[in-house]
Amino acid sequence: MKILSIESSCDETSAAVLDFDCDGKITVLSNIIASQIEIHARFGGVVPEIASRAHAEAISKITYEAFDEAGCTVSDIDTVAVTAQPGLIGALLVGVNFAKSLAYANNKPLIAVNHMRGHIAANYITHPDLRPPFLALIASGGHTSIVRVTDYREMEVIGGTRDDALGEAFDKVARVLGMPYPGGAAMDKLAYEGKPTIKFPSAAIRDDTLDLSFSGIKTAVLNYINTAKQKGEEIDRADIAASFVEAAVSSVITKISEALDREIDTDKLVLAGGVAANSHLRAALTKLCADRNIKLYLPDLKYCGDNAAMIGAAAYFEYKAGVFAGTELNGCAVADI
Ligand code: KG4
Ligand code: ZN
Repeated sequence: MKILSIESSCDETSAAVLDFDCDGKITVLSNIIASQIEIHARFGGVVPEIASRAHAEAISKITYEAFDEAGCTVSDIDTVAVTAQPGLIGALLVGVNFAKSLAYANNKPLIAVNHMRGHIAANYITHPDLRPPFLALIASGGHTSIVRVTDYREMEVIGGTRDDALGEAFDKVARVLGMPYPGGAAMDKLAYEGKPTIKFPSAAIRDDTLDLSFSGIKTAVLNYINTAKQKGEEIDRADIAASFVEAAVSSVITKISEALDREIDTDKLVLAGGVAANSHLRAALTKLCADRNIKLYLPDLKYCGDNAAMIGAAAYFEYKAGVFAGTELNGCAVADI
């Protein structure tokens, strides 16, 4: 069976066609992404109204491209899937209304997908052997959550950030270091040129939760830079990047270790989200899992950031469960997993 999936929750408009064989094996026939990064870069972050307009401009074109690349038309599709939550409401509504119209006009069933579940499902594309249960860490520009995944459609957030998402913290620190939005990937690289000589506070909250708070590290970096400037001292950008990465990644490792201590039956850890592309986080989790004899699943780099293929992968389990949406489907900005 084939799924056309649409993603428009933030600043990438994406359409994909996925084929599933009778065992559920996934073939990504196309996964077209129109990024708005250049449009938002000059504002230093995503401007919601501009994002909605850019989605509206791109969505038809990239959907046709997705069909062309997949070598099929809408009549070959079994169902249309769309990200309905969480995300920027105006951005979500562009995708939701487009998918609703397409499904209605072509008499296809419609599936609403949770964006966070999509990030997790990106791993089913990369790792055909992956099966729940497992523990997942979703780290993106909007979310940072530790998730207990008991089945393909059964999952619960057991910890995560109480304020800034990890990607958001990366982007904010990158911005004060003069890098264009979104600076996460540039910070990843710059950290290799420096040494973690500055001690920034841990984001792992010292209590019995699995929660983190990244706003403290971000403020500590800003204070460090402002203090140095006031004293007329030179700052070493690479050392700051290396120290921030060290503090952020080790905080995540602290809480993931605690989560693994508690979830004693867990033998699999899955990384998901845009920050899953971070090489320091990947290396630290690889070491942690090797030490603890846990199998680690890392998504292919092309499925870390927002893309429609991951939405199609998550939609497959809704399709199998017979869970469809009607024409009353609405977008929802804030939603749990
Ligand atoms: O999942 P995503 O594409 O969008 C959201 O759902 O938020 O994640 C985007 C985030 C941005 O904050 C971006 O800076 C961050 O992922 N990111 C990275 C790296 N690549 C992307 N952060 C750290 N290191 C990277 N290599
Ligand atoms: Zn995302």
